[in-house]
Amino acid sequence: MCGIVGYIGKKEAFNILIDALKKLEYRGYDSAGIAVWNKGKIEVIRQKGKVDELKELALSKGIKGTMGIAHTRWATHGIPSERNAHPHRAKDIVVVHNGIIENYMELKQRLKKEGHKFTSDTDTEVIPHLISNYLEKGHDFIDAVRLAACELKGSYAIGVIREKDRTMIAAKKESPLIVGVIDGESIIASDIPAVLDMTNKIIFLEDNDIAIFNETGFKILDIEGNTVERTIHTIKWTGAMAQKGGYKHFMLKEIFEQPIAITDTLIGRVKEDKGEIELDDLKLPDLRKIKKIWMVACGTSYHACLIGKYMFESNLKIPVEVDIASEFRYRDPIINKEHMLILVSQSGETADTIAAMKEGKNKNAYVLSICNVLGSTLARDAHGVIFTHAGPEIGVASTKAFTTQITVLFMLMLFAGKRLGLFNTRQLQEKIGELRKIPHKIQEVLNNAENIEEMARKYMTYKDFLYIGRGINYPSVMEGALKLKEISYIHAEAYAAGEMKHGPIALIDENFPVVVLSPIDTTYQKTCSNIEEVLARRGKVLLFTDTTEHEMAQRVESTFVMPKTIYELQPIISAIPLQLLAYYIANLLGTDVDQPRNLAKSVTVE
Ligand code: AGP
Repeated sequence: MCGIVGYIGKKEAFNILIDALKKLEYRGYDSAGIAVWNKGKIEVIRQKGKVDELKELALSKGIKGTMGIAHTRWATHGIPSERNAHPHRAKDIVVVHNGIIENYMELKQRLKKEGHKFTSDTDTEVIPHLISNYLEKGHDFIDAVRLAACELKGSYAIGVIREKDRTMIAAKKESPLIVGVIDGESIIASDIPAVLDMTNKIIFLEDNDIAIFNETGFKILDIEGNTVERTIHTIKWTGAMAQKGGYKHFMLKEIFEQPIAITDTLIGRVKEDKGEIELDDLKLPDLRKIKKIWMVACGTSYHACLIGKYMFESNLKIPVEVDIASEFRYRDPIINKEHMLILVSQSGETADTIAAMKEGKNKNAYVLSICNVLGSTLARDAHGVIFTHAGPEIGVASTKAFTTQITVLFMLMLFAGKRLGLFNTRQLQEKIGELRKIPHKIQEVLNNAENIEEMARKYMTYKDFLYIGRGINYPSVMEGALKLKEISYIHAEAYAAGEMKHGPIALIDENFPVVVLSPIDTTYQKTCSNIEEVLARRGKVLLFTDTTEHEMAQRVESTFVMPKTIYELQPIISAIPLQLLAYYIANLLGTDVDQPRNLAKSVTVE
């Protein structure tokens, strides 16, 4: 996730900005840049790579000055490169930005007509041009930033400086931005760790705030230009705590980031009023000619594919075969040019998934990747790519990557269904409407996290767990069991509930807790019967459902009720309590949650 910082005061801005950027490195980034103001001139230096390399480069150019902005970029629009790195400039306006500008294409076209020339592939570049455009029309600097902010759709936290003015301006909507309050100087940043060395007095800017900083101090305006007051908070976190946003582990932070990760993945792509999905200029082949879809991935991403199969087959009526990437190529799969291969990967660098891509390409299939990392091998080398905008995932256990992958698969299914003429506008509006409610519903689950923590306390000492579910809930329990085993080292296995009688039921006794995912859907009654079977063998049931009236709720040991959604989106909601259960058990057991033993974040060897 991008990090922004800005400084104005009497000290050398360069050192302060570089130190602050280094404190934001944990967020993950692929390029970095800095702009420093010195006597009416702004020098911009940026490059692909690490902050230390940027520092070397800037030092070699003798950068100097007492006001500046800087940025670490996690690419969302345009590959990681010098030209796409921030800060971006238009005439004497220089900007750093965190977030996604939904209407940038529209703004870019308009500004181009007015003579503005663009040099990057980013959404951000429209911001300095828009501000510059307002200046050309006679507005002052503050008003130009405010009017530009009024036109931006999507999310932004921006830092703006101008050659002609020793003033720094910040603005925010739906992306975090804080102000460090110090006598005679000011620092802004996207996160607290960046400023903690200088101050623990923090203002959290609110949506639509415009903050103006100069020699004498600062003021904050609302989007209409009225002065507003914001509380100054005293932060008591240590640096390490601050990097994790006050959470004990990155995994917990990432679980709690899921409402925003999904919102970011939807931004600019779902048009509920028109019943349309737009997927980043994706050029798919003629879908009427696609006879079969393959979905291939590893680990958690494989589970997302299994969920995709349920969505695609029931809605698109195209056969879908899901494969584990490490198995795929060795069985010489029968693929041809009438097939589409969908590869799902957080990192875009998983060796077996890359090998599966080659297999598909060699056999002339259309290859589409769904990735979280821009510029990764799968993103670059597939015929088409759709990005999950989950932001960097640092915990080894995949959480927000998983739920954003399901989000993308659902959007892709709607997109394909519309092209195939399978949905009318009303049906699409309804499904998109449900999708848009998902971040809010996840938040409802997160608000009840302590109930799951309570459950974790009750079951943390058991040595084995069984996870069961039916239909689309089956891959969800596979993912739930994977989460528990990888971070707590407790044996957990998942079965389709209907398979219990074919073997695993032999394991059930009072020492074998069974996690059951049983929302109200077409297999509800059948799953109730499976719960009966477990109870008859004195098994302990942890029930996860979407109704307060589940007929087994009174008879099982523990129940957690989730918000309701439609069948295809249920796995996103169900993922959250199962992630939390695994997390809290592992945390209580004291394992290394973010870096579990023997595991790597990205498996780049076969
Ligand atoms: C799950 O929590 C793991 N981190 C792992 O299974 C992961 O999903 C798998 O290695 C695939 O990684 P990818 O999505 O980066 O390809």
